[in-house]
Amino acid sequence: MFGRRTDAVGAAPNPGVGAAKNTAQGKPKPAPKPAPKKAAPAAPPPRVAKGSPAASAQPVEIGGRSDEYFQTKTTIFNALIDTIDLSQLAQLDTEAASEEIRDIVNEIISIKNVQMSIAEQEALLQDICNDVLGYGPLEPLLARDDIADIMVNGASRVFIEVGGKIQLTNVRFRDNAQLMNICQRIVSQVGRRVDEASPICDARLPDGSRVNVIAPPLAIDGSALTIRKFKKDKLRIQDLINFGSISPEGAQVLEVVGHCRINTLISGGTGSGKTTLLNCMTAFIENDERIITCEDAAELQLQQPHVVRLETRPPNLEGQGEVTMRDLVKNCLRMRPERIIVGEVRGPEAFDLLQAMNTGHDGSMGTLHANSPREALQRIESMITMGGYNLPSKTIREMIVGSIDVVIQAARLRDGSRRITHVTEVLGTEGDTIITQDLFVYDIEGEDEDGGLLGKHKSTGIARPAFWDRAKYYGKEAALASALDAASE
Ligand SMILES: Nc1ncnc2c1ncn2[C@@H]1O[C@H](COP(=O)(O)OP(=O)(O)OP(=O)(O)O)[C@@H](O)[C@H]1O
Ligand SMILES: [Mg+2]
Repeated sequence: MFGRRTDAVGAAPNPGVGAAKNTAQGKPKPAPKPAPKKAAPAAPPPRVAKGSPAASAQPVEIGGRSDEYFQTKTTIFNALIDTIDLSQLAQLDTEAASEEIRDIVNEIISIKNVQMSIAEQEALLQDICNDVLGYGPLEPLLARDDIADIMVNGASRVFIEVGGKIQLTNVRFRDNAQLMNICQRIVSQVGRRVDEASPICDARLPDGSRVNVIAPPLAIDGSALTIRKFKKDKLRIQDLINFGSISPEGAQVLEVVGHCRINTLISGGTGSGKTTLLNCMTAFIENDERIITCEDAAELQLQQPHVVRLETRPPNLEGQGEVTMRDLVKNCLRMRPERIIVGEVRGPEAFDLLQAMNTGHDGSMGTLHANSPREALQRIESMITMGGYNLPSKTIREMIVGSIDVVIQAARLRDGSRRITHVTEVLGTEGDTIITQDLFVYDIEGEDEDGGLLGKHKSTGIARPAFWDRAKYYGKEAALASALDAASE
């Protein structure tokens, strides 16, 4: 059979090395993934209650594999590696290669007289195909659409984030070599390399998921792999309302903000839902506007017909060819944009975005990491200062006030729920201080018996926000007034 070793005796390659060879040849062939379950957008994300596996440190069972199963799998896997030539197998297409593996594994099971049920045998075949051709133990996690993040801390500790809560799973890699191999397989698909010499790498999976790898010696206990799963069915504003992330009135205010070309900053902590909210906000943009998006890894899914999507580029292996966010934002200005959307503002591009916002690109938006609207404005100021612009802080603050109209704060609360906690206006400066005014806030009122937070979105009673005239200009003042009135009742 093609792919079988002719010199099986004494030529067993180290499974890690064999798979690395595949990678070096640039022929990684991920096994076809089972179709992910479609998330029901109307159902709120499951909240992990107190006393559940997440609250105690019990690993969550994925696939129900026992220790005995892992031992059997290792024995059969080693026998398989002795039998096949992985480099030849890499020349087959995925389907033929997995057929080949299935034939040989079935033969090994009968020769070694391994006792297992048909279901176990099928699971074993799938796992081994995943190991040889795909992303190994990560495959069942990648196939699930309810997982937001996968975090691998060395071979034996794999965490997932489901419904806003981080849980330890029973998924594990054979050893750190297998984990490193899979990391290499992932990053080689985007033409990059991760090893001791260049131990930090960002990459993308073919489905768009964002990946970061940091390998030993920097990661002390084996490679750390972090995957932000790409959600095919992006949450929409109605989903956010259904989850209680925002009230219907709050959403109506966001619609006015998005529609009336009000410059907006979305602030929040890691994984708080900033990109999701930005994506929702873009739905309020009219179809005839020319929009340019700049991202580190393309996550936004705009529905408008006139969109140019740009992505930064890391330096190549020789350290050349980097294209930064600042380069993209600067270039955008020469592309006749009507709105510029920056996936994440984290450096000197803050200056260019602010300039764009107050030079006729109204309705531009961006996200940034900060824990409150006030902190978001401070961060913008420090990004500009650290970018080497020699401007007095008063000038920078005036520039911020002249550019940013609204800051929306997203947060992941301690019960795992994600909420929009503030919709805040930037009003002006008083002396050296930036004056802001909250329109909407989320008030935490208590805790239910499962540890879930109880709270309410409340309007602060401002009847005429500073962008009232703008809303009027776009014919949205009635919608704005009714949302603010309804929320303050
Ligand atoms: N309001 C929400 N309710 C439930 N789940 C949400 C909500 N907002 C976002 N999510 C989910 O949370 C995860 C993280 O969201 P998102 O990527 O938008 O966060 P982020 O703040 O941009 O993260 P990062 O800081 O890593 O860029 C995604 O899986 C997303 O589907
Ligand atoms: Mg994001």
